[in-house]
Formats: sequence, structure tokens, C-alpha cells
Amino acid sequence: MGHPVLQRRAEAVEDPTHPHVQSLVNSMIETMADAGGTGLAAPQVHVPRRIMVFFVSEDRATGDSGDFEVPLTTLINPEVEPIGEEMAIDWEGCLSIPGLTGTVPRFTRIRYRGLTPEGERIERTASGFHARVVQHEFDHLEGILYPMRMTDLSRLGFVEEVTRARAERMEASRTGEDGADVRP
Ligand code: NI
Repeated sequence: MGHPVLQRRAEAVEDPTHPHVQSLVNSMIETMADAGGTGLAAPQVHVPRRIMVFFVSEDRATGDSGDFEVPLTTLINPEVEPIGEEMAIDWEGCLSIPGLTGTVPRFTRIRYRGLTPEGERIERTASGFHARVVQHEFDHLEGILYPMRMTDLSRLGFVEEVTRARAERMEASRTGEDGADVRP
């Protein structure tokens, strides 16, 4: 965070099937895997192009309609549109902002489309965690980082502290003390 490439709108890829695109995508996938992330956008590896990779593991998917396990997906020149106006707030982290986490409002349901490096067209509807990941990565292509979407900065914190506080609240709730404030 702070690098100018993360704060500008990324440019469209003219030829998604160009070998340079495939090699960039491979390196993005490697970076995402090394960092244990669930998504990555090209500006995060300092390439200002409209490319994102992501997946949804079975344990993150809620199983609701549109929130299913999603295999590793590459989207080039993606488009994202909300379905309806309903939003939900939940925790997010970002490989460009290591160690921090915050609660971010996102559209609950979206439709997205884009091209793969093979030139195939992907179009899906998504909800829940699946929709959240796609909106987070798409924001990177618009020069937006998740803290810029937060509506309550008191809910920005270090993962270590937030995790500890959550565990303490759950313990207090389990033992009947201060059970009224069980926030995620
Ligand atoms: Ni991110």
C-alpha cells in the first residue's frame, strides 16, 4: 500500500491470448499461492493491467446460491455489476496490506464476466464470499484498496489483535460473561 500502481486505474489487455499474458498469469498464481491468498490482481505485482486471479475453497464457500467452491479462475478485462442493492459487511484482508484486516461492505450478489488467457468467455453470478472476493480483486483494477471502502475505521486492526479479541469474546460468551457483544 502506498505504491502508485495500486492507486491508478489499470489498463485493458489488448490481446488476452498473448503469451506474455499467460506468463504474467502464471507468476500471479505463484505469488498468490506463496502468500496463501485467495485472490490477486495484476497491479499487486506492479503490472497496471486488467487481470485478476482467484479461487474459492470449499471451506470458505457458504453453499448458498452463487456461493460455491470456485476453481482457480483467471479473468482478463473483467466487468462486475451488482444484482440488487443489498450489501453485507464482513472481514477482509489484502496481500498488499499485510497483517491488517477490516470490515468492508460489499454487494451480496453480483454478475461478472471476463476472458481467460485461452480466449474463452466466462460469465457467472456470485453471492456471499465468492462475490466478495471478486469485488475486492476488481477494485484493485480501479485503484481502490479495501480500507477506502470501509465505513467504520474502528474496525480496522491487526489480524493478530482482532483474532485474539474474537477468541476472548467467544470465551466470555461461552462462560456466560459479556455474551451480549459477540461480533464477528
Ligand atoms: Ni487485495
